[in-house]
Amino acid sequence: MIRLAIQSKGRLNEDSLRLLREIGINIDDAKRKFLGKASDFPLEVLYLRDDDIPGVVEGGAADLGIVGLNEIAETCAEVDVVRKLGFGQCRLSLAVPKTVDYTGEEWFNGKIIATSYPSVLKKYLKENGISATVREIKGSVEIAPAAGIADAIFDIVSSGGTLVSNGLVEVKSVLESEAVLICRKDIPAEKKTLLDTILFRTDAALESQGKKYVLMNLPTARIPEALALLPSMRSPTVMPLAAEGWSSVSTVVSESSLWQTVEALKGIGAEGILVLNLDKVID
Ligand code: PRP
Ligand code: ZN
Repeated sequence: MIRLAIQSKGRLNEDSLRLLREIGINIDDAKRKFLGKASDFPLEVLYLRDDDIPGVVEGGAADLGIVGLNEIAETCAEVDVVRKLGFGQCRLSLAVPKTVDYTGEEWFNGKIIATSYPSVLKKYLKENGISATVREIKGSVEIAPAAGIADAIFDIVSSGGTLVSNGLVEVKSVLESEAVLICRKDIPAEKKTLLDTILFRTDAALESQGKKYVLMNLPTARIPEALALLPSMRSPTVMPLAAEGWSSVSTVVSESSLWQTVEALKGIGAEGILVLNLDKVID
């Protein structure tokens, strides 16, 4: 049995459970208890506040955790970051009321900055020779300037919507963050085997992200041109069709270049092009 700590509610909760489902681990989540159990894998899920996750994994009460790099930076917990998970992208940024005359970082000298990330902020201020007062607030940091509690804030920015709706502007991004899988140091051997299975499946799920499977018919004479257009894991699969002089070509294409590739393929005579979703890529 291996125990994974995930966020009980908030920005990472849904994506964490979605990733688990994608790798064939389904949690009986009906009652949303403190501790859940997978029906199809020897795994328990511990639901925690995200700022508690690094410390709980460091202490060994959970073997693994899914948490933002922002929380690891703040807690300085001794854990291994084993995978970046490609969701929960955000940054920790300094923001000021849009009405102030912001001249540059020296503006922060003598000011009060509200944050839930005092340790990351203090380190940044020190490294940059800025002398400001750090006021720790657990939540709703964005209202601190309007409430007269602080002159500026240092907080998570994702879409930027919270800043806009509170009349704040981001002036400096200090730390880029995303969700990562963390593991406790010195994980016992039998749990390490389970972790390896989880990593193998996670890599297959991550590898399929942003990729499509493309299938088309092409005059056999144009195959060399098609091969030049199609980078793939090995080379594309080419099979003869029943119709003389035609072949079927299939390959994996990255979503970012999908339309460009499809248009180029049409240009060399491809027909009946099918673009299919890719669920897993297992290397
Ligand atoms: C963070 C942050 C902002 C918001 C920013 O809070 O404190 O309130 O997200 O996101 P946006 O740029 O997309 O508007 P979070 O939802 O993590 O909850 P918390 O304040 O309880 O930590
Ligand atoms: Zn918030």
